[in-house]
Amino acid sequence: MQVATFLAYLAAAALFIVGIRRLRKPETARSGNTLAAVGMIIALIATLFVIEFQDLFLIGTAALLGTVIGAVSAQRVQMTAMPQMVAAYNGVGGGAAALIALSEFYYLQTEGGGDLVAEITIPLTILIGSVSFMGSVVAFLKLQELAFGGSVTFPLQQIVNALLFLSILVLAANAILDGTILPFISPVASVVAVLAASAILGVLLVIPIGGADMPIVISLLNAFTGLATAASGLVLENYILIIGGTIVGASGTILTRSMSSALGRPLKKIIFAGIAAAGSSKKEDQEEREVNDVNAGAVGEYLSDEAQKVVIVPGYGLAVAQAQGPMYNLMETLESQGKEVLFGIHPVAGRMPGHMNVLLTEAGVPYDKLYDLEDINPEFADTDAVIIVGANDVVNPAANDPEQNTPISGMPILDVEQAEKVIFIKRSLSPGFAGVDNPLFYDTDKTMMLFSDAKQGLQEVVEAVKSG
Ligand code: TAP
Repeated sequence: MQVATFLAYLAAAALFIVGIRRLRKPETARSGNTLAAVGMIIALIATLFVIEFQDLFLIGTAALLGTVIGAVSAQRVQMTAMPQMVAAYNGVGGGAAALIALSEFYYLQTEGGGDLVAEITIPLTILIGSVSFMGSVVAFLKLQELAFGGSVTFPLQQIVNALLFLSILVLAANAILDGTILPFISPVASVVAVLAASAILGVLLVIPIGGADMPIVISLLNAFTGLATAASGLVLENYILIIGGTIVGASGTILTRSMSSALGRPLKKIIFAGIAAAGSSKKEDQEEREVNDVNAGAVGEYLSDEAQKVVIVPGYGLAVAQAQGPMYNLMETLESQGKEVLFGIHPVAGRMPGHMNVLLTEAGVPYDKLYDLEDINPEFADTDAVIIVGANDVVNPAANDPEQNTPISGMPILDVEQAEKVIFIKRSLSPGFAGVDNPLFYDTDKTMMLFSDAKQGLQEVVEAVKSG
């Protein structure tokens, strides 16, 4: 490799790392994204030099197609559909790594060459890449609610998975050892079979995983894709693939770990145990049970007259209603009356990591008012009112109920019930993403239910506080 290419790869790697580091805070996230994208462009151009500008037409067509699809879908995607898009992009990355490895194996078989490292990493890349591809396809279908809803399980699922994995190992060994284990299957046929079996394994691993755990699975598949890419870098002896793949693998692993601890669900439990389908929305019970149904005037009056310290908890419904502007106005109005206002942000509120932080920051809420789960929970005991806007799972005490086995069981929640009053602004008694009814709705002494679209409800409450 020429010195110039090596230096370009080094610069690209540095930009990736600085870019990721800047993603840690909303203020620097945009520039971090741009830096990483510049790194990617440098890496692409340097790679054209490495391959001596061969096959430019094919590469140009693929790059053009990818750019158009990427730009159009990124522009059009709703913020709430971001996890599906990440799953789709991630899946194609894994699939591409698997196909590259397959074609490289074929090339080495027909043209000769390749060492033990390549022979071992090729089946490994195919395995991880195909699992990641098909797993991401299933995750996409689940999140888009097109197929595999809930937790799909069947008898002996874990044993079938284990046997499939074992057969992948045997086929991979057969490919590496030039067909000596299974003489009736050629090495090329063996790696093709590894690809097919790994794709099936990807499907089987993700179908039992219930909705509430999907963000973790997507992050895990993302880490897999990183590993597959790094392994394909070893196959192709390409440094930037090794570095870029390792960075994706490591950051995906860290994100997976921190999300699974935020949800209180050990990774082993998510992957190896299908969870009970959320059958507890109890529609009939909801109809029968009484709630403290209030109008915006009553909420405004309570906030004006009784509340000094207010915590606002945003959830998915805030994003759907695009109600971050009125939420900011409510903060300003309450503060203009001398009240203290904080925001409690659960790590999985909304539909993607950092979803609420992005929305509130866009609306102008200062960062120092955004409190994470661990920081806001001690505040609730001396809070006069918690206003929960378009959220349910993240404040649902059913998560702590040892008698219930639900998709959110064990997930740490925002302890809003410790506050003096709880005010929900949502359209109905419908449960949230995990489909689990919330006992707080029916605590008529503590809870006020303002049934409204989040945007309209907040606007009305702002008016009521102003005139109260
Ligand atoms: P959810 O529990 O999903 O509750 C959202 C609530 O918003 C619903 O109960 C719905 O009730 C209400 N809503 C919908 N549209 C509304 C509107 N226009 N105006 C007012 N309310 C509206 O949300 P959450 O508490 O934020 O919890 C997030 C859930 O999503 C967790 O289970 C989490 O695991 C999952 N998840 C998270 C992520 C990440 S990484 N953040 C990714 C995928 C999934 P009504 O219909 O009654 O209005």
